[in-house]
Amino acid sequence: MNAYKRRTDEEIQRINRLQGDFFSELIHVFDPPLPEGVPERLKKIVASARIAKGDVVLDVGTGTGILIPLIQEYEPEAVYACDLSEAMLAHLQEQYPYAKTIAAAVRDLTLPDQSMDVVFLNACYPNIVDKHRGFVNISRMMKQGGRMVISHPMGKSFIGFLKNKSPFPLDDFPEKPEAKTLLEPYGFDIIEFVDEEKLYIMVTKKRG
Ligand SMILES: C[S@@+](CC[C@H](N)C(=O)[O-])C[C@H]1O[C@@H](n2cnc3c(N)ncnc32)[C@H](O)[C@@H]1O
Repeated sequence: MNAYKRRTDEEIQRINRLQGDFFSELIHVFDPPLPEGVPERLKKIVASARIAKGDVVLDVGTGTGILIPLIQEYEPEAVYACDLSEAMLAHLQEQYPYAKTIAAAVRDLTLPDQSMDVVFLNACYPNIVDKHRGFVNISRMMKQGGRMVISHPMGKSFIGFLKNKSPFPLDDFPEKPEAKTLLEPYGFDIIEFVDEEKLYIMVTKKRG
């Protein structure tokens, strides 16, 4: 079932601690103004989830929460924001007090079964070290017919640029056939796939 790279739990925890500390030092890199074109592309990413009024939304690897105000425009019932970095979440909470922050790796979230309508992973998929347990847990938390959006507002080639500078491993965003093989075992079917030079969006739907 699991096509993702296997690592020991010790290794996963070591990399997650390293990432949490790394991003805690980078909070202001994510502050506006964002690079040209990024705000418009973030709007497209959030629109692709087709959030309905009253939906419950989770933003995985939320960072300083650049998606949060865009999600809030759709009037969800609740927005959960999870990240490894407590410092990033503290910054987010100051700006968006309505968001419910959770400091945890996505694989360890304990939100109830079938409680989420929409899950975002924006600029975060390459960073998730334990993707297998991460997607098992997202699948558990999602309602049938819910949408999970995996995206990057600079396109998938941006990861190549980041890899040279990153002190921890980063995985590439998958092409569509590979994405199908990777995500179908967790109950996700791809319903939209955008792979442009500066925009990557994969929308998946949770099977019944
Ligand atoms: C490049 S930042 C992107 C932040 C935000 N989504 C954005 O678009 O600005 C990646 C974030 O993912 C978080 N992260 C990495 N692995 C994670 C995991 N397993 N669970 C939750 N968050 C994770 C990091 O702490 C970091 O804040």
